[in-house]
Amino acid sequence: MIIPIYIYGHPILRSECKNIDASYDGLESLIENMFETMYNANGIGLSAPQIGLAINLFIIDLSPYGDEDPSFLDMKEVFINPEIIEESGQEICHNEGCLSIPGVREDIERKSVVKLKYLDQNFIEREVEISGLFARVVQHEYDHLNKTLFIDYLSPLKKNIVNRKLNSIIKGKFKEEYPTVLKK
Ligand code: NI
Repeated sequence: MIIPIYIYGHPILRSECKNIDASYDGLESLIENMFETMYNANGIGLSAPQIGLAINLFIIDLSPYGDEDPSFLDMKEVFINPEIIEESGQEICHNEGCLSIPGVREDIERKSVVKLKYLDQNFIEREVEISGLFARVVQHEYDHLNKTLFIDYLSPLKKNIVNRKLNSIIKGKFKEEYPTVLKK
């Protein structure tokens, strides 16, 4: 089932997210629906707040980039209650977008290496050190669980330029093929 994606301006994107445990109701179908929703919107990452749930959960699937790098084909994962332990390496600039902020793409600097622990779909605890695009998408989705959007990192000057677009987005003036939810 495709779930509508909550759009910039909706308070759920700035809400406190809670940890979940294995007894969370309907988790398996929720995860299945999140993947379906993400693929339908041509995304490579999706967090629970973006579908209206303030819980610590996000999913990633980099396999659409498998043509560029075959290792991306294996980078499909569910992250429950994730915790970034350390970010290291160089600050790297990368162009980011977000399914909740349609039509906005900006270069954002982030550290290149991320160490994090999380529970996988089977609630098995994992600790990984990742880099490259995988780390980048993890950082972006992890931010969603902490009320942070990539546009929050823009300089005041850049933010000023983007603000006009954001004001249109809040009013629903954007074109996307996937179902969305606006702030009432
Ligand atoms: Ni996003």
